[in-house]
Parts: sequence; structure tokens; C-alpha cells
Amino acid sequence: CLRLLTPQDLIGETVLVTAGPTREELDPVRYLSNRSSGKMGYAIARAAVNRGAKVILVSGPTALTPPCGVEFLGATSAAQMREAVLGKAGEATVIVKAAAVADYRPATRAAQKIKKEGSREMTLVLEKNPDILAELGEIKGARYLVGFAAETADLLANAGKKLKSKNLDLIVANDVTEEGAGFDVDTNIVRFLFADGTVQELPRMSKEEVAGRLLDVIAARR
Ligand code: CTP
Ligand code: CA
Repeated sequence: CLRLLTPQDLIGETVLVTAGPTREELDPVRYLSNRSSGKMGYAIARAAVNRGAKVILVSGPTALTPPCGVEFLGATSAAQMREAVLGKAGEATVIVKAAAVADYRPATRAAQKIKKEGSREMTLVLEKNPDILAELGEIKGARYLVGFAAETADLLANAGKKLKSKNLDLIVANDVTEEGAGFDVDTNIVRFLFADGTVQELPRMSKEEVAGRLLDVIAARR
């Protein structure tokens, strides 16, 4: 891995990053998921490695290649992501939860492909997945805990609620209805909301630049 000319301001940190969507299986050929590409989380993982951190990347299924130098753990479902994250959290000094974890999973997974014959409609029963970030908030300790909030309305209020209820140091609030923000695009328009109530607004920037700004905050806290 090439790290030429990059300031090594994260040496000594172990950054655990989650990225991508989760998939919740309905049957052997179908699943519920979301539009997360994983780009934001991978950009954070790549930049953190370049700045000298040890990086553990826990990723849902994406089309991306894990950055050079990260410890990579693949996870498919929210339950698998939770296992991987809780298993590694003890090593981390910083945790950044950029993954779009499915809030619900099918209450049952059919062992065989569900057949359409004999029914005109179908009702799915879903049950709630555990909130991985909220669990991390409960065992926070000295770790710096960063969440992401994708919102379509009341951005600051909704993101602020998550910041408090999950016991975070920082939440990256992202209005996914704005053009050039959110899923499937290479740019983001985000605000950083801090636990002390401060808000930092950032202009539209590439996900690499957002990653850089986030790591600046993490490096500056030391
Ligand atoms: N998150 C998590 N586990 C879940 C759901 C969310 O760890 N089961 C994390 C996400 O990785 C993200 C943060 O919580 O960092 C906020 O996710 P978001 O979907 O915006 O918020 P929710 O708390 O799930 O609330 P809602 O979807 O109802 O807005
Ligand atoms: Ca959610």
C-alpha cells in the first residue's frame, strides 16, 4: 500500500468502520436490502489506513474492493454484522458506523423458494433487528463513536435525536433528498452534529473529502 505524502496523524488508533447495506433473506433466492453502495464507508477506511490507523472494515455486500491494508470482515445480514462488530469493538479506539443496517428482517426464512401458486397476494411479517450502534453506545467507554443518519425530513432534529439516544460523540447527518447527496452518488452534503450541541455544515463534496473531514475531527480530538 502506498502512503506517500500523507500525514500520519492517526498512528496508534484502531478504527472500526462498517459499510454497505445488509441483506435479510426471505428464502434461498430472495432478500430485503437497501440502496447503500458502501462508498462512504470504504472511503473512510481507505483514508484512515493512509493516515496511519489500523483499520477493521466490516462490510455488507457491495461491488467494491476492500482497500489495501485493512482487516476485512464480510457480513451479509444485520445479525452477522452485529456479531462481527461486537467481536472487534474491544480493539477499537474509534468506531464509525457508515453501514445502512436493515431495520427489519423477515420473521421467518423459508427453507425452499416461496412459490406463487395458489395466492393472489402475500403479506410479509418482519421483526426488528438489533440496533448495533445503540448497543455500542451502551458499552462506549473511551471510544470515539460516530454514527451516520440518512434523513428525508427534519434533518437536524432527527439526527440530533439519534446522537443523544445512541450516546454518540458525532453524527454525520445526510439529507438524502438533496441533489448530490446520499445513495448511489459520489458526493454527499452533510452536517456534523457533535455531542456538545455544535453543528458544522459542510458544502457538497466528494465522499473522499467527507471522509477526510471526518478523520480531521477524529485526529483533532487527541
Ligand atoms: N444502525 C445500526 N443498527 C441498526 C440500525 C442502524 O447500527 N439496526 C446505525 C447505522 O449504521 C447508522 C445509525 O445507526 O450509523 C443511524 O441509522 P439510521 O437508519 O439513520 O437510524 P435508525 O436509528 O435506524 O432510525 P430510522 O431508520 O428509523 O430513521
Ligand atoms: Ca434505520
